[in-house]
Amino acid sequence: MSDNTLTTTDTKSAARVTAEAARRRTFAVISHPDAGKSTLTEALALHARVITEAGAIHGKAGRRSTVSDWMEMEKARGISITSTALQFPYRDCVINLLDTPGHADFSEDTYRVLTAVDAAVMLIDAAKGLEPQTLKLFQVCKHRGIPIITVINKWDRPGRHALELMDEIHERIGLRTTPLTWPVGIAGDFKGVMDRRKGHYIRFTRTAGGATAAPEEHIPADAAADAAGTDWETAVEESELLSMDGSDFDPDTFRTGESSPVLFTSAALNFGVNQLLDVLVELAPSPGPIVDVNGVPRPVESPFSAFVFKVQAGMDSSHRDRIAYARVCSGTFERGDVLTHAGTGKPFVTKYAQSVFGQQRSTLDDAWPGDVIGLANAAVLRPGDTLYRDVPVVYPPIPSFSPEYFSVARGTDPSKHKQFRKGIEQLDQEGVVQVLRSDRRGEQAPVFAAVGPMQFEVAQHRMATEIGSPIALESLPYQVARIVDPEDAEFMNKQVSAEVLTRSDGVMLVLFSTPWRLQGFQRDNPDIKLRSLVAAAEG
Ligand code: G4P
Repeated sequence: MSDNTLTTTDTKSAARVTAEAARRRTFAVISHPDAGKSTLTEALALHARVITEAGAIHGKAGRRSTVSDWMEMEKARGISITSTALQFPYRDCVINLLDTPGHADFSEDTYRVLTAVDAAVMLIDAAKGLEPQTLKLFQVCKHRGIPIITVINKWDRPGRHALELMDEIHERIGLRTTPLTWPVGIAGDFKGVMDRRKGHYIRFTRTAGGATAAPEEHIPADAAADAAGTDWETAVEESELLSMDGSDFDPDTFRTGESSPVLFTSAALNFGVNQLLDVLVELAPSPGPIVDVNGVPRPVESPFSAFVFKVQAGMDSSHRDRIAYARVCSGTFERGDVLTHAGTGKPFVTKYAQSVFGQQRSTLDDAWPGDVIGLANAAVLRPGDTLYRDVPVVYPPIPSFSPEYFSVARGTDPSKHKQFRKGIEQLDQEGVVQVLRSDRRGEQAPVFAAVGPMQFEVAQHRMATEIGSPIALESLPYQVARIVDPEDAEFMNKQVSAEVLTRSDGVMLVLFSTPWRLQGFQRDNPDIKLRSLVAAAEG
């Protein structure tokens, strides 16, 4: 039941909540691995003057590192598995940047993060254009109606023509591009950008190693030709072509996800990063009402509510605990508040609320709509759970992706039987893998289901190092899962190359060896209703 009336128990006035919400910009960067997401994240924080030298957040090899990666596996592979939430002030706003894992195997994690943002930055490598993971994540944003700001990165390196990249985006994903800046100088010879709305030239200057904020000069249009010569003239001509083509910024279609403002950057050289921050502040939406499970929007001024979009353990080897990340949807949060867990109706004490800066943590004292709170030691919280104060609300569950990989997990050390059970439950709750069981296989041989095989590696690594119960995984010959009604389960179990298992939330899944087997079964048994889970490619 939802009742969105404001109660007097709210200690902060509604006007203050409205104002704080209006200052928030909560977004994530979506990209294919290697497009420069980590570099851009660091550059954004640098420009916002949170850190004075790039490299203090992610600690990737070769960069300055103040904090270590939480998992050795992550280090060895050089990929970012964990999600971090980064908050920093810029101008009058508070920017919340939610990091997403780059590898496709963790797209389920990325999907969860995308449920918690109000906008996304689609980062594209100028030499590569649209890549598979970018496309997939774009589909998720489109499905959720998330406004997208497109950033063409690595313009300091030889790459494709800017107009050609605009055409590719339009033709392949139907997104109308409306460049806000236009490069002066081709890819590989980046001199600066034309500010298409104001008409002037922003000239960038390189700094040693791109480690500090790059100085920029704003040169009026009439002096720009002297400063940049034919490169400026080309930029002006191309910009005019874009205007004739209807490619000027349009706030309405941006907000509905039909058009996308475009910026050109070199994250490594810190070029164009200020422009991105300004666009986020000036054009990206602030948090608005979030629709609950009954389709009722809850205004930001309503009493506190939030939903958990991610649960993560072992971020730091010295803190072997678990953090549930929740996005604040309405009201104000103060550490120590007693909330209600919508799923169980039980009180939830928030003594351990934290904000998370990269992998460093600090105690969080208050939070507003759009902010992310990290709730430590929150064993009861799972992705999709709602927390509220005073006026009940339940936000829609976060759909699970349809798994495509299945493996039986068995403990290799029989004396660690208890740890094994506890560990499997923990991985399941965090959503590291989905855990399926059946009477036939028994408690000691649960089946892990995953969107990508690397999820298994993470689960196996964590069971061995963190939980202390090493496991062996035996892969199963299944590729597709469908939801099946309990009354059909027995019939399904008798089919060749199919098996029914139950997820921990009670949903029964039938696994098929191949999509063709599934099709054949459906053709032969049209009366049995099998339902799809959300496919990773659809989001
Ligand atoms: P990701 O998080 O999206 O996976 O990408 P990341 O930031 O790690 O960047 C991938 C590589 O691309 C890095 O090079 C990074 O330095 C480089 N890069 C990022 N942005 C730019 C840019 O604007 N211009 C150029 N020229 N390069 C860029 P690397 O060799 O893998 O690592 P590193 O030793 O340089 O850190």
